[in-house]
Amino acid sequence: TMPAKAVATQQCLVCHGSYDKVAARTDKNDINPHDSHIENPDCTSCHRGHKKPVLLCDECHEFRELKVP
Ligand code: HEC
Ligand code: HEC
Ligand code: HEC
Repeated sequence: TMPAKAVATQQCLVCHGSYDKVAARTDKNDINPHDSHIENPDCTSCHRGHKKPVLLCDECHEFRELKVP
């Protein structure tokens, strides 16, 4: 069964370590989605599990090169 609400960022970090660690993995991008002026947004504001992902940044920007898995 699907979890009823969004998984908390804290639960993602149990496995993924810390925001710094995920930021290090995407540091090769010109725009790092994990290291910006938006400080540590919830993971699920972009990664949506089985739903269509969104790039939170594109509420204001248009980063065509960033594809959220
Ligand atoms: C039980 C441990 C665990 C938890 C909890 C977890 N992950 Fe992961 N995740 C992994 C593993 C293992 C991989 C595959 C290896 C890697 O890329 O680190 C992965 C891969 C990913 C990827 C890369 C997928 C791809 O297609 O490249 C994303 C994005 C991701 N996780 C996001 C999240 C988010 C967001 C959460 C919380 C909602 C989360 N994970 C919670 C273990 C976990
Ligand atoms: C602002 C949107 C956004 C947020 C918030 C976000 N991510 Fe991501 N994430 C992305 C994008 C975009 C990529 C793909 C970057 C790329 O293709 O290099 C990505 C890629 C990843 C990957 C795969 C990295 C790899 O090696 O390819 C993991 C793991 C991941 N995110 C985990 C997380 C976790 C855990 C959180 C919360 C702590 C989180 N993300 C929050 C946008 C986001
Ligand atoms: C609520 C609107 C909003 C959101 C959401 C947003 N930004 Fe921004 N961003 C701005 C504004 C406004 C500026 C300043 C533009 C300027 O001065 O030209 C800016 C500037 C930037 C810059 C250039 C300036 C700098 O700080 O180096 C980058 C890079 C950037 N944003 C990345 C991101 C990323 C990555 C995300 C998602 C994680 C994001 N933004 C989400 C509004 C937003």
